[in-house]
Amino acid sequence: MANDKMDIETAEANLKAMAHSEQHYFNSYNHHGIHEEMLKDEVRTRSYMNAIVQNPHIFKDKVVLDVGCGTAILSMFAAKAGAKHVIGVDMSTIIFKAREIVECNGLSDKITLIQGKMEEIELPFPKVDIIISEWMGYFLLYESMLDTVLYARDRYLNPDGLIFPDKATIFLCGIEDGDYKDEKIGFWDNVYGFDYTPLKATALCEPLVDTVEMKAAVTDPTAVLTLDLYKCTVEDLAFSVPFKITARRDDFIHALVAWFDIDFTACHKTIRFSTGPHTKYTHWKQTVFYLKDVLTVQQGEEVECNMLVKPNEKNRRDLDIKIDYKFDAQDALRKAEGTCEFKMC
Ligand SMILES: C[S@@+](CC[C@H](N)C(=O)[O-])C[C@H]1O[C@@H](n2cnc3c(N)ncnc32)[C@H](O)[C@@H]1O
Repeated sequence: MANDKMDIETAEANLKAMAHSEQHYFNSYNHHGIHEEMLKDEVRTRSYMNAIVQNPHIFKDKVVLDVGCGTAILSMFAAKAGAKHVIGVDMSTIIFKAREIVECNGLSDKITLIQGKMEEIELPFPKVDIIISEWMGYFLLYESMLDTVLYARDRYLNPDGLIFPDKATIFLCGIEDGDYKDEKIGFWDNVYGFDYTPLKATALCEPLVDTVEMKAAVTDPTAVLTLDLYKCTVEDLAFSVPFKITARRDDFIHALVAWFDIDFTACHKTIRFSTGPHTKYTHWKQTVFYLKDVLTVQQGEEVECNMLVKPNEKNRRDLDIKIDYKFDAQDALRKAEGTCEFKMC
């Protein structure tokens, strides 16, 4: 017990020595509340459970690395699936609770939990057979935890090793969102009789993480980024991609909404879950990017867009996002063109 107390004190001191943004990030995972939210996200946690527990023929006798193990839920799934040994790594102090949880479940001989930053610790195995990790942030890439998984892959994964999950795709579509845009953005035009428009620009710059109803979708979805976790590099996480959205009906487009799908293709039968508006709620919700213009579109018309995404230079965990749109409608009054810059922080 005295040893554990010392470990926790050392971990807290190490956290305090980190850059402020890193402290803020890891401290957010110290509290049980955020883990409760993730564990209660059934779409997320059951997909991982099924991908691991339904594939004992893949996990049997393998050495497994759980990158960012949190409360060790994925580590315990892997142990249950027959892994020879599981190593869980987490910088946050939640890992001390994870050790108790692993012990309560009689899995301490199968699971080793290491407190520290993945990039700084040394694993007790030179190589691992399987990497499991739940690294996805809002809009998939916010928080940049994928960098850490790619580091673990390059440093520790056997050449024929597996990654769970191994594929991620970001989708976008145009939505009608007049009422909510008015509530969130138009609100600043008149606040108790005062002109608050200086805050309107700020509000427009922040993508909104919220649930979007399927009926709001005005265009078909389009994939803007697909990541193959066996091959992608940190450089691929900054990208600029042109894309088109096509109107399904006559309507107005106030915003683009983004979500992501996750695939575990190494399973016997691919397991996939989506965080889109067309399916069950997840704690990632969707991410809404309001456009400056309202686009008045007719069924079949296309809007040409480009999305640029890159980690912020000062804080890699934040994202700078730029959306260009050009709507070349037949009648001049409906034509629109613009650029919107967003910061996710
Ligand atoms: C999204 S949570 C997932 C927790 C757990 N795997 C689960 O599925 O419930 C990500 C965890 O990764 C940890 N983490 C992120 N980056 C890390 C790094 N570079 N080194 C160690 N831990 C990290 C965080 O502290 C956090 O607990």
